[in-house]
Amino acid sequence: MSSTQEPSASKNIIVSGGAQGIGRALGRYFLEAGHRVFIFDIQEEELEYTATKHLESFHKDGKVGYAVCDLRSVDEIRSKVDQAAQFFGGQIDVLVNNGGIASPHWKDNKTMEDKETYDQWTAYLETNLTAPFAMSQACIPFMRHRESESHNSQGAHKHVAGPCIIHVGSFRAHQSDPNQEGYAASKAGQLGLMQAMSVSLGPLGIRTNLVAPGRIKVGHESKEGDENGDTWEDQNTEKDIDDHTTNRAGRPKDIADACLYLINAGFVNGVDITVDGGALRKKAA
Ligand SMILES: NC(=O)c1ccc[n+]([C@@H]2O[C@H](COP(=O)([O-])OP(=O)(O)OC[C@H]3O[C@@H](n4cnc5c(N)ncnc54)[C@H](O)[C@@H]3O)[C@@H](O)[C@H]2O)c1
Repeated sequence: MSSTQEPSASKNIIVSGGAQGIGRALGRYFLEAGHRVFIFDIQEEELEYTATKHLESFHKDGKVGYAVCDLRSVDEIRSKVDQAAQFFGGQIDVLVNNGGIASPHWKDNKTMEDKETYDQWTAYLETNLTAPFAMSQACIPFMRHRESESHNSQGAHKHVAGPCIIHVGSFRAHQSDPNQEGYAASKAGQLGLMQAMSVSLGPLGIRTNLVAPGRIKVGHESKEGDENGDTWEDQNTEKDIDDHTTNRAGRPKDIADACLYLINAGFVNGVDITVDGGALRKKAA
């Protein structure tokens, strides 16, 4: 019996917050896997450096596009998603909602007893929860199944994964340290959003899942990191070895591997994949 399983085709992927950190690595690993990538970020200089210098060879080949976008503005999101769709010839296959406020603690050692944290609360929710909703809403009209992928030349159905949305959440949705209410609530909200979208968008053939990173060292994934010659190894401390059953902190590649799995996992929908090196288990023990 001949197999109808197809090798992974090149996909058109939007990555939000891709100028630095985990998002920069996601873009690079997706490009290295043969996909095309469009990057959103609010940091203009860092974004331009990443797209045109860090990813120079892919940029020259027309495989990577980018746009400055403030994820707190729904108007900007809508017009920049249109721009990305145009770059991709009208077809978006994957959206990775990675961009957000990644620092979990209230600024300046504040606690929720300080009324000034209310503004930060709003910023967390708008950036980490409302933006993934608005980004997804804007992408849906462009996330069609490719006709060429639906059937093979004999008319049989192929086993293709189809379009998908991946939210980058956090293990803090499950277990917070003190003074992280805004961050933890926004990330727990993403879990609810993911499971609801996985049900609602199923009839459209769009899968929705979430990757929840634990402690990922990202300092080297930046212009400054490149200039200083920083490495991931330099950032891995004794505490990182103690805190993880895997005896190390996370690499951005750990998150990229989980996303690449989900992109091709056509029978996986509505799932939260925690990539935390066993930190939640260790703390619970
Ligand atoms: N690094 C970790 O240990 C860790 C752990 C758990 C979850 N995460 C999640 O992973 C994602 C990436 O985190 P990171 O560690 O790479 O952080 P980072 O701060 O290095 O990267 C976040 C990116 O999002 C962009 N961004 C922030 N606000 C924006 C806005 N309003 N509009 C457009 N872009 C905006 C930033 O400019 C930045 O490039 C975040 O969602 C974070 O919550 C990270």
